[in-house]
Amino acid sequence: LKRSSSTSSTVSYLTSRGFSSAPAPERKVTVLGAAGGIGQPLSLLMKLNPLVSSLSLYDIAGTPGVAADVSHINTRSEVKGYAGEDQLGQALEGSDIVIIPAGVPRKPGMTRDDLFKINAGIVKSLSEAIAKYCPNALVNMISNPVNSTVPIAAEVFKSKGVYDERRLFGVTTLDVVRAKTFYAGKAKVNVADVNVPVVGGHAGITILPLFSQASPKANLSDEEIIALTKRTQDGGTEVVEAKAGKGSATLSMAYAGAIFADACLKGLNGVPDVIECSFVQSSVTELPFFASKVRLGKNGVEEVFGLGPLTDFEQQGLEALKAELKSSIEKGVAFVHGN
Ligand code: NAD
Ligand code: LMR
Repeated sequence: LKRSSSTSSTVSYLTSRGFSSAPAPERKVTVLGAAGGIGQPLSLLMKLNPLVSSLSLYDIAGTPGVAADVSHINTRSEVKGYAGEDQLGQALEGSDIVIIPAGVPRKPGMTRDDLFKINAGIVKSLSEAIAKYCPNALVNMISNPVNSTVPIAAEVFKSKGVYDERRLFGVTTLDVVRAKTFYAGKAKVNVADVNVPVVGGHAGITILPLFSQASPKANLSDEEIIALTKRTQDGGTEVVEAKAGKGSATLSMAYAGAIFADACLKGLNGVPDVIECSFVQSSVTELPFFASKVRLGKNGVEEVFGLGPLTDFEQQGLEALKAELKSSIEKGVAFVHGN
C-alpha cells in the first residue's frame, strides 16, 4: 500500500484552513441520534466538512435546538432538524450517508453486549426506515454492540430486498485513533505520522490492533506490545470508568466518526486510495463480518484487504477473538429472525 493510503488519516478540514475551490458534488449526510452525546459534536464536525451540502439531524427529541445552533455556522451545508418518528422519512430521504449514533451508552461494570437489549430494537427500526427511504445510502453504524448491530442492519436490509454489502459499515475508527495515540506515546514518534491497522470487531478482545504493521517502526518490547494491545482493547472501558456513570466516549468518537464519514464522502466523490479499517461483510476469515482495511469508492467498499503477516501474538489474538465475535454476529442475526 502506498504511504498515502493510510488508515484514519486526519480530516483535512480539521487541520488546514485552506478550502479547495474545486466544486464538490451535492451530498446529503443524515445523523440518527443527533441530539446525543456523540450526535451533537459529530453534527458540529459534519457541519465543518465542505464535502457536505445538506446536513440532516434526526433524534426522538431535541434536534430542532441542535439544528438551529449548528446551522448558524458559516460553512457550506444547509442544516435541517427532525424530531420524532413521523419526521424520520423526511430526514432520511435522499441521503448519501446515514451515520447512526442512536442508542444507550455503557455505565461502569457493563459490557457492550449489555446494551443489546435496548439498542438492537432501536437499530432494527432505524434500519427498516433506511431500507424504505434511502436504500442506497452508505450506513455508518456507531451504536453498540457494533459486533451485533451491523449484522442486525444487514438482516433487515436482506429482508427488505435492499442489502448491498458494500454499503454497510461498522465504525471501528475509534479503535484506530486510540491505537495510534497510544503507540505514538510509547514509541516516542510524531502521532501525526502514525498508522496502525486494527482488525476483528469492536468489543474487548475482539479488538485486535496489529502493532507489528505499525508505522513508523519502533523497537518496542513484547511487554510493551502486550500493554499497548490491552490498552487499545480496554480504551472504551477506560473512558466509561473515568466518566463514572455519565456515559462513554463521545468527543473522541465524534472525531473518529467524522474521519470515517469524510473517508466515505471522498470515496463516493471518486478520490483514489481512500483506505480505512471498518467492520464489514468479509471473507478474510471464516466469520461473515470482520474488521480490516477496506478501500472506499463510488459504491462504498471496493476492496476488503487481508490481514497481512501476523506475529505469533497477533495470530493467537485472532484465534482467541473468533468465538466471541461469531456469537455476537449470530445474536444479531437471530434477533431479526425472532429467535
Ligand atoms: P447518548 O445517550 O448520549 O445519545 C444517544 C442518542 O440516541 C440520544 O439523543 C437519544 O435520544 C437517541 N435515540 C434513542 N433512540 C433513538 C431512536 N429510536 N432514533 C433516533 N435517536 C434515538 O449516547 P452516546 O454517548 O451518544 O452513545 C450512543 C451509542 O454509541 C451508544 O450505543 C454507544 O455505546 C455507542 N458508541 C459507539 C462507539 C464506537 O466506537 N462504535 C463509541 C462510543 C459510543
Ligand atoms: C468505545 O469504544 O468507546 C465505545 O464502544 C463505547 C464503549 O462502550 O466503550
